[in-house]
Amino acid sequence: MIDDITSLRQEYTRHQLSKATVALDPFEQFTKWFEEASSAGIVEPNAMHLGTSTVDGSPSGRVVLLKGFDEGGFTFFTNYRSRKAGELIQNPRCYLHFFWGELERQVFIRGTAAKTSDEESDAYFAQRPYASQIGAWASEQSSVVASREVLEKRFEELSAKYGEGAVPRPEFWGGFRVTPSEFEFWQGRPSRLHDRICYAKTGSVWATSRLSP
Ligand SMILES: Cc1cc2nc3c(=O)[nH]c(=O)nc-3n(C[C@H](O)[C@H](O)[C@H](O)COP(=O)(O)O)c2cc1C
Repeated sequence: MIDDITSLRQEYTRHQLSKATVALDPFEQFTKWFEEASSAGIVEPNAMHLGTSTVDGSPSGRVVLLKGFDEGGFTFFTNYRSRKAGELIQNPRCYLHFFWGELERQVFIRGTAAKTSDEESDAYFAQRPYASQIGAWASEQSSVVASREVLEKRFEELSAKYGEGAVPRPEFWGGFRVTPSEFEFWQGRPSRLHDRICYAKTGSVWATSRLSP
């Protein structure tokens, strides 16, 4: 039991960030930080918070796994009938957020999401472990299920149906790619004077600015 939550604090001293040293291209900067997060022993450095909202602005959020990124955007996979997918289809504006505490860093990305091609979703689904493939079929993600037993029974039935053969991708399951319009790279610094470098796109050019912490 924590007696005094107000005393929980950390002084950030490990790294720094400046407009002079960041990459001109935010994807290059993200690649550098992602590689550093991957080598720092962080559990699932590709876990990112995805924020969505309904068309009338009611927000929701959850963690998903980044499965690829390049200049075209940041890709994750999910159930197309889930809450997040429903919101993204109605309102593609969303954000991604990474927190890499061991490196005293966060990255915020604002962008718009669009479904990946069927070919891309097929290719990723095919390389998932068998149990995850069956799990995708078994879960009506985000809707109420009567009990854990119902879910497990559905999993057993689907395992029996597909046996050891190839499992096709459900048409209700696939990827989204988030195309960024803004990035913020945040580096914790002493005395709460953190470094915040933002990138915003004008035409095809990314411009950087420093924000107050
Ligand atoms: C570490 C971690 C990784 C996850 N990865 C995914 C993922 O890649 N895709 C996914 O649909 N859900 C993933 N989830 C589950 C989601 O956080 C969420 O519970 C689920 O997608 C339903 O969200 P929704 O009802 O808002 O659509 C993950 C959860 C955690 C904690």
